[in-house]
Amino acid sequence: MSDSTVQQGALKYEGKAKKMFETQNPDQLLVVYKDDATAFNGEKKGAITGKGKVNAEISARLFQYLESKGVPTHFIEQTAPGHMLVKAVTIVPVEVIIRNVATGSMHKRLGVTEGRVFQQPVLEFCYKNDALGDPLVNDDHVIVMEWATPEQLLTIRQLAKKVNDLLKPLMLKMGLTLVDFKMEFGLYQGQVILADEISPDTCRLWDVTTGRKLDKDRFRQDLGEVEEAYQEVMGRMRKVLAE
Ligand code: TMP
Ligand code: ASP
Repeated sequence: MSDSTVQQGALKYEGKAKKMFETQNPDQLLVVYKDDATAFNGEKKGAITGKGKVNAEISARLFQYLESKGVPTHFIEQTAPGHMLVKAVTIVPVEVIIRNVATGSMHKRLGVTEGRVFQQPVLEFCYKNDALGDPLVNDDHVIVMEWATPEQLLTIRQLAKKVNDLLKPLMLKMGLTLVDFKMEFGLYQGQVILADEISPDTCRLWDVTTGRKLDKDRFRQDLGEVEEAYQEVMGRMRKVLAE
């Protein structure tokens, strides 16, 4: 970690879970992960002690792992606990969700039995817009709204499936079922790359043996022991992805 070489410039953007700062390099941004937690498009607000550092470390390890397997990501370096240097991308304003097991909004929307394991992953797109409640959209919406070109959309689909194919077995080694997760992609020098974060904030992770939820659903559903769950995921990941 080498924060000394990265100059934290002006705040460029503040989201619900992260702040993005300019750096001396216009192609790079410094992401500072926050402890703040929100749910239901910002309606429920709180904080999870230590979450910023944990999510930055988990995301950094996962981005490095995915890069090593040929997935391009925005990750450059974890410069300090909770701090991550990334490539400055133009975000495609679409949340890309992969589901391996039925739960959450798909269970609510389609009445599908919770816990049903799908025979193939389900890919969904949602328009990133809190005021509209992040509505579900399809490929045609993405193209006519010009959020991505058909070629970029194809790449996003292929990368999303590849990330799932890589993360499912990795999580299994950690004793976790990757139930579903959300990704965001960005455009960098004409290339589609994986951006944002991958952490217990953006994944549903269930303990393989007990079914215990080790993700943000503990906060969303007031299940308690939220900090402990995030720490547990980080501890397991450190063992499986040793430095
Ligand atoms: P959902 O079942 O509520 O649609 O969530 C699907 C997955 O996406 C789940 O792993 C949580 C994640 N997610 C986010 O990361 N951000 C969001 O704003 C939402 C709604 C879900
Ligand atoms: N990230 C969303 C929000 O802040 C929703 C969620 O994660 O449940 O409201």
